Amino acid sequence: MEESVIREIYRLKSEKDAVILAHCYQPPEIQDIADHVGDSLQLSRIAASTDVSVIVFCGVRFMAETAHILSPDKTILLPEPIAGCPLADCIDVPTLRSMQAMFPDSLTVLYVNSSADVKAESYACCTSANALEVVESAPSDSVIFAPDRNLGTFISRKSDKKIHIWNGACRTHAVADIQDIKRHIEEWPDAELLVHPETSPEIWELADAVLGTGGMVRHVSNSQATRFIIGTEEGMVYRLKTLFPDREFIAAGRIYCPNMKVITLQKILDSLINLEPAVHLDPEVREKAYAAVARMTEITG
Ligand code: 13P
Repeated sequence: MEESVIREIYRLKSEKDAVILAHCYQPPEIQDIADHVGDSLQLSRIAASTDVSVIVFCGVRFMAETAHILSPDKTILLPEPIAGCPLADCIDVPTLRSMQAMFPDSLTVLYVNSSADVKAESYACCTSANALEVVESAPSDSVIFAPDRNLGTFISRKSDKKIHIWNGACRTHAVADIQDIKRHIEEWPDAELLVHPETSPEIWELADAVLGTGGMVRHVSNSQATRFIIGTEEGMVYRLKTLFPDREFIAAGRIYCPNMKVITLQKILDSLINLEPAVHLDPEVREKAYAAVARMTEITG
């Protein structure tokens, strides 16, 4: 059954001039059939540069929206429309505006884990891979950073700027448990611990490196270590095992994002058949959000 669904996905992909992008938190069977698997920055770059007509975005809504912001002429399919992000949902336009009114001299740097209408209110977007670079290049001495407080704290420890941090957090990374991680370190003392900056600062203290998912891939490829404890969503463990089959990767705990797991092979097939559900945004919101996303890409090259 699964094989026939996959065959049909491949056939329709070529018939409809489509490409499948998958975030590295997606389930194994979806990573396996994707044309590109990557972090949120890599996927948005591919979405902008590919010349196909249809992008099937296997991730969560803000990622598919970012693809649409960058490529409004393509059809961007999000095969399961309920794939949301509670972190993105914790910030809205009126509350961001009231924070901006409190700090009128601060530019707003917004983590891409946010909805398009909030992006439209910001100076520039960033991902975990380039947040520090974007904050440093903003032409203001102080910055509002939203919505992830852990990533904001991580940046504030590296930047001389005053950072006003929005008090939001990722529910999935909040599950990462320091006692669990200490037990893992005791059990595998030779392993390197890599953690995502959305985990809490106490966890970073124990880590060999604090990195976004793309940074984890680069770190492993440059490291001499053979064993790694991975402190981010468990899909990343599968991604690393696929890329580096001769190394060992151990999940730092049950760090599981339910929103990243709602897309199925059958839903990908249905979306290719119907060219729905597609992402649509108000053109004015899209244009303003484009300015913030484009500024990120200008800064990071
Ligand atoms: P990356 O930018 O590292 O891919 O992380 C995306 C994300 O949503 C983390 O929760």
